[in-house]
Amino acid sequence: MAPREQFSSKAGFVMAAAGSAIGLGNIWGFPTQTASNGGAAFVLVYFILSFCLAYPALMAELIIGRHGRANIITALRGISSGPITRKFGTVVGVCGVLTASFILSFYAIIAGWMMAYLLESVAAMLSWSEVSGWLTGFSLARNVMFLLLFMALTMAIIARGVTGGIEKWSTRLMPLLLVLMLMLIGYVLLQEGAMEGLKVYLLPDISQVKPALILDAMGQAFFSLSLGVGAMLIYGSYLSEKESLPVLGAVVTLVDAGVAFVAGLLILPAIYVAKLHGADVFSDAGQLIAGPNLIFQVLPALFDSMGQVGVVVAFAFFLLMSIASLTSSISMLEVPVSLMAEETRVNRLQATLIIGVMITLVSVLILLNFDLLFGLIVELTTVYSQPLLGIGLCIFVGWIWNRNNLLMEIQRGHAKIEQSLFWKIWPSYVKFFCPALIVAAFLQSVI
Ligand code: PHE
Repeated sequence: MAPREQFSSKAGFVMAAAGSAIGLGNIWGFPTQTASNGGAAFVLVYFILSFCLAYPALMAELIIGRHGRANIITALRGISSGPITRKFGTVVGVCGVLTASFILSFYAIIAGWMMAYLLESVAAMLSWSEVSGWLTGFSLARNVMFLLLFMALTMAIIARGVTGGIEKWSTRLMPLLLVLMLMLIGYVLLQEGAMEGLKVYLLPDISQVKPALILDAMGQAFFSLSLGVGAMLIYGSYLSEKESLPVLGAVVTLVDAGVAFVAGLLILPAIYVAKLHGADVFSDAGQLIAGPNLIFQVLPALFDSMGQVGVVVAFAFFLLMSIASLTSSISMLEVPVSLMAEETRVNRLQATLIIGVMITLVSVLILLNFDLLFGLIVELTTVYSQPLLGIGLCIFVGWIWNRNNLLMEIQRGHAKIEQSLFWKIWPSYVKFFCPALIVAAFLQSVI
């Protein structure tokens, strides 16, 4: 058997992990959540939770992954202490793999829409109005076609493996994503009305602060860092022993939160520029439009009103969204594919094909029963499953895994960790604080 693949460098890992983390959750979820939760107050709580809760949970995944050098199920079984915890490891692992797969099944649908709008901007440049109409029409045929296209791209990258696929494409696409985003911000901030949006984003509006704010911010931080489903775990498993996990985990957390913050500088001003151009940006209830309507109605209306430049801005914006989706979706697909390739006789290419086709079929099923299934699967996976799995992983690191072995794993690549603040705080953090806070959020979402 060939030796297990590894990221070729620190930067390769950071690009891949940041690529997984930075996605629709940052560019769409975070800014709109901020807008509907009282602006800067939400931003502040989100930042605190990113570092005090999501970072420790991310560390749990990276450490388990690098220690196990395997997919989530095998890695968890490897650190269990007896038959019961082994079973528990299997259950958590299986649920993680299923959750990652189901998240991909709805994520790929949305990403397909982004790509359809991307092509639409090209059609608009060429004045192909019939094609434009079809591309923005949300017909079943269009949705299925772009789902297939997006899944094919995701599978093509994953089939090429860790360095030739995940690392190579993350390293190419992430810098492009940052450049696109900064250019768009520069342009939007110069438009009339942008400053009003900036105010909503950066000045706290205490009257909008709801009791659910902390819990919303937590869910957002969890989704944004790709936690609970074994995506970060499998990326950690491809990391060299020479690297310091606490440092790399902190870099990824910082980049993820930083990009979420910067995305707010784009989306909120854009909404208010659109408002000035006559777009309906508030729902009947007076809430800022935040769902798909924002991306697929409010913003396109804004781009339209900008004339010729608008087409280029639309192109850049939907390219940004497509790239952000792709570097996240590959990490979702890697979860089941790594499991199958490692645990059966099937090779990576075959595993990618088999699982990719299965997930695509689930997506088609969702498209055929959209009203019934779409919201349900989003809610089951992101509201219930991700936080619950997060508790499971914290229990593994905090309660089940032998503490000396845990320390030995973190010491690899960070010899002095035992004297550090990290080691003084983090173990009890994952043991008590993280599960307790996640339970609180879970209860809130159930109620
Ligand atoms: N973090 C991604 C985003 O912000 C979503 C994601 C969730 C990726 C779970 C992988 C696993 O959009």
